Amino acid sequence: MEVIVVKDYEEMSKEGAKIVRDAILEKPNLVLGLATGSTPIGLYKELIRMHKQEKLSFKRVVTFNLDEYIGLDKAHPQSYWYFMHDNLFNHIDIPKKNIHVPDGKADDIEKFCLWYEKEMEKLGGIDLQVLGIGRDGHIAFNEPGSSLGSRTRIKTLTKETIEDNARFFKNMDEVPKFAITMGVGTIMDAKHCLMLANGANKAGVLAATVEGSVTAQVTASVLQLHSKVTTICDEASSTCLKRKDYYKWITENKYKVPKSAKKASVKSKKK
Ligand code: PGA
Repeated sequence: MEVIVVKDYEEMSKEGAKIVRDAILEKPNLVLGLATGSTPIGLYKELIRMHKQEKLSFKRVVTFNLDEYIGLDKAHPQSYWYFMHDNLFNHIDIPKKNIHVPDGKADDIEKFCLWYEKEMEKLGGIDLQVLGIGRDGHIAFNEPGSSLGSRTRIKTLTKETIEDNARFFKNMDEVPKFAITMGVGTIMDAKHCLMLANGANKAGVLAATVEGSVTAQVTASVLQLHSKVTTICDEASSTCLKRKDYYKWITENKYKVPKSAKKASVKSKKK
């Protein structure tokens, strides 16, 4: 896993957006997995800026969102459908037909989840998946104890997640208790995962994710088994990382990594 420690939220967002932009420039019909929550908002703002000022086009990009609350209408200001349109889709040139957000009002949830998985598969799978981490270590709504091989399905939210989400609703009764979420296995099938973390309240869970044991109790930790993960975190969330100096050293010296072993020379003392 590549861990890039940056100064603050703004830098995290800009660096993350560059990775998304480069992926779109390389593959204009990119299959892009998207996340909600406060973490990726800055990245979306930067993508909107790139669209407006640098003509970055999303015309052929196809998106799949990680999750959606059960029971909320698309028009509900707290639905993830609404969030994504408000924070990104309404400000870029992505065609509506290319947008996929799980249907929180699906008549038959199981059937919907199978369809969602098939749609991703039909397009060859997700090329780049943007991820945040929950305070309880979840990726998407894969709460502690989720099967590390799980696919898109309904999930009961934990007390911590419900409490974290309560700030967005009038009272506790209104906070959704269930969600449709891509599974851990679905996320692991993405070709490249871009995980973002910021703020001191994520420091413990980020260290558990990056340096702890791989466990279903911290579902994000399974990313240690993925072949291509880029984690971008700010200073505040990086304070519990034991190998922070090493990650920083790698980032600073990346240009020195030899492309060819033939050209790399190791100086040795003559005997
Ligand atoms: P946050 O949520 O970005 O609002 O911290 C992250 C998550 O729950 O995945």
